[in-house]
Amino acid sequence: MAENDLGYFHKFIPSSGASGLTLLLLHGTGGDEDDLIPIGRDIAPKAAILSPRGKVLENGMPRFFRRLEEGVFDLEDLKFRTNELADFVNAASAKYRFDLKRLVAVGYSNGANIAASMLLLRPESLAGAILFRAMLPLVPERLPDLSSKPVFLSSGQYDQIIPKESTEKLLQLLKRAGAKVEMKWNPANHGLTEREVKLAGTWLQESRAGEL
Ligand code: MLT
Repeated sequence: MAENDLGYFHKFIPSSGASGLTLLLLHGTGGDEDDLIPIGRDIAPKAAILSPRGKVLENGMPRFFRRLEEGVFDLEDLKFRTNELADFVNAASAKYRFDLKRLVAVGYSNGANIAASMLLLRPESLAGAILFRAMLPLVPERLPDLSSKPVFLSSGQYDQIIPKESTEKLLQLLKRAGAKVEMKWNPANHGLTEREVKLAGTWLQESRAGEL
C-alpha cells in the first residue's frame, strides 16, 4: 500500500543490505509509485527505495510538473514542483532515516526531467542520477556545482517524444556544471530496454566505487 504522507502518495522500501544506498524512483507520465520498482531492483538489488507518485494530473495521468503541450513546460510550475519534491525528499530522509548523500535518482521521461531539474535547482538533495529519456527541463539562473554528482544519461536514438537536441543541451549543461556524465545513445525508441537498465546498474556500481 502506498502511504499518503509528507505531501505525496509514496512507497518506501528499506534496504536489505548495508550499502546505505537509496534510490529515488521517478516515474513517467501516466505512471505511479509502483512502475519503476522492478527497474530499481535490477539496478541496485539491495538498495532502499523511495518512490513518490507525481501530483500533477494531465487528463487523469500523474506527472511531476505541468506542461503546456508535449515538450513545452510550465516553468513556474516546474520550479515550484522541483522545490516541493526536494522538500519531500528531505522530510523523507528524516522520517525513514536514509542518507541524502547516498540518494541516487532514477527517473524515466517526465521523472527524468524533474530529476534533472532537481540537480540544477536543488543539487544538495541528490548524490547523483540515472536519467532515462531525459531532456533539458530548464536553464537555471546560476550554474550549480555538480562536480560531486555523477550522472548516467540513457536515451533512444529513435525516440519520437524526446528531441535529441534537447538531450544534448542537457548533457552540455550538466558538463558545464562540472558533473561527470556518461551518455549512452541506444538503438531504441521511447520505451526502456533491458540492456540499458543493465548498463545503468554497472555504471552505478562503478560510480559507487568512486563518488557515491
Ligand atoms: C515531459 O513532459 O516531461 C516530457 O515530454 C516527457 C513526457 O512525459 O512525455
